[in-house]
Amino acid sequence: MIIAVDGPSGSGKSSTARGVADRLGLRFLDTGATYRAVTWSAIQHGLDLDDTAAVAQRARELRLELSTDPLHQYVIADGTDITAAIREPGISERVSKIATNLDVRAELIRRQRAIIDDAQPSGGIVVEGRDIATVVATDAELKVLLTADQEARMARRGAELAVGSITAEQLRDQIVRRDADDSTVSEFQVASDGAVTIDSTFMTLEEVVETISRLATE
Ligand code: ADP
Ligand code: CDP
Repeated sequence: MIIAVDGPSGSGKSSTARGVADRLGLRFLDTGATYRAVTWSAIQHGLDLDDTAAVAQRARELRLELSTDPLHQYVIADGTDITAAIREPGISERVSKIATNLDVRAELIRRQRAIIDDAQPSGGIVVEGRDIATVVATDAELKVLLTADQEARMARRGAELAVGSITAEQLRDQIVRRDADDSTVSEFQVASDGAVTIDSTFMTLEEVVETISRLATE
């Protein structure tokens, strides 16, 4: 069983996908964390992020361990726990540049598919990202495109921030810029064949989890 959840930043992919995995006893994969981990590592190595060959080489060499336990998420890169570091604004600002590197994408998609395959004997996995239904797992049994209007997405992201870490204005700029950068990748956030679109703008997290879980077990 594979459940694919795609959508833009702040639509609720990560929290709802984790909730569905917990409820249905499935594994959980946050594919955005793989792009964030490569971004973190490229910066640590002092790479020029415009040097696509060097960054792709870093992606291939990176030792990456991702938890697929929905209740205990962690990311370890070359032995360093980067679970918190990859959520920093400095990573969020740069990750789209890394994600448009096609050699990085090829490497990370290969790794994501291996994690998805590994999860099948234990019942399956909920996978969230941008291109899961269209590229990574086109054979998913359930494909969800999760949306929410820009104001709601910004309010949700803003509520998560530590007071004073970045201003509302900076957050707005960051989300608008990331949406624009991400929209250059044609496979992102398009309703693929058989995908169900859920607009979460006026839904609670619990309602979205309930809706997806019901669709998965129908
Ligand atoms: P994404 O993975 O799409 O970027 P997240 O799952 O990280 O989104 O959600 C961003 C924030 O919004 C989190 O703090 C989460 O708890 C909250 N959230 C998610 N879905 C909803 C919802 N339907 N209603 C209100 N808040 C939500
Ligand atoms: O949580 P949020 O939606 O803000 O971001 P994320 O899911 O952690 O993804 C971070 C970035 O990684 C996105 O802005 C995309 O540029 C990229 N990404 C991607 O290219 N393909 C995916 N399947 C998932 C994320």
